[in-house]
Amino acid sequence: MLTGQGGLPMARVETPVSTGEIYLQGAHVTHFQSKGEAPLLFLSRESKFTAGAAIRGGVPVIFPWFGAKDGAPAHGFARINAWDLVGAEMVPTGETILRFKLPGTVDPSGAEWMLEYIVSVGETLGLELVATNSSGQKDFTFENCLHTYFLVGDINSTSVIGLKGVKYRDKVENFAEKTEANPTIRISGEVDRVYTDTTATVEMRDDKLRRRILVEKAGSASTVVWNPWIAKSKQMSDFGDEEYLQMVCVESGNVGKNWITLKPGESSRLKVKLASARL
Ligand code: BG6
Repeated sequence: MLTGQGGLPMARVETPVSTGEIYLQGAHVTHFQSKGEAPLLFLSRESKFTAGAAIRGGVPVIFPWFGAKDGAPAHGFARINAWDLVGAEMVPTGETILRFKLPGTVDPSGAEWMLEYIVSVGETLGLELVATNSSGQKDFTFENCLHTYFLVGDINSTSVIGLKGVKYRDKVENFAEKTEANPTIRISGEVDRVYTDTTATVEMRDDKLRRRILVEKAGSASTVVWNPWIAKSKQMSDFGDEEYLQMVCVESGNVGKNWITLKPGESSRLKVKLASARL
């Protein structure tokens, strides 16, 4: 284990084709880079690296709720607690796989569950969040999301493809229900949308970095697209005023009407594979 920013413990993985960095705080992947390419993930230069605060950028793990909740931390507590690293191995296909576990004691509600996270660093970045209802009697209901911040060369030369015809809640317009009309989404203002009932792969085209990113997912019925744009960026103390130009979040999970209920003993798996190629 290395000491990362703010003195927080961090694991660094180097494979023949890529590098990755993961903080125990939130089991937070802050960096993934294929050799010869720009980093895949955006990480704010203003991010806090403090125990109990969310890191701004990379892949925050959102669990067991998405968004704000009265008297409780926004986006749940998985991203602000320290996880345990419970395994690390290099597999014959060349990936390094790290396994994390969130201590169950962090849930103030006393719900009984187990949360594991498997990060695979290789030619692609693989992420798998496994939630298990470990209660003998009670159902367990939750939301989850891998809140991925992608680095882009310029948001004005970036498009998001794969959501045409999908219903979404527009958080910028008071959660209005809408249907995506565009095969190719261009971002030119604040965007905060929860797309539901979609398992589709999303593609991002970044004409400035000449890169195409594919977000392939399994066990996920929702996709969230977020860019804070100018005014929100200025309000966020852990985000640079101009950084909205360099990022877009395309998040895979189960949010809102797609929340998950597990019966006692059941597990759910949220899996994401992030791959990139030159345009
Ligand atoms: C997005 C939400 O996923 O996360 C936005 O849809 C929210 O509403 C954003 O502003 C960032 O959230 P936070 O808690 O990390 O500032």
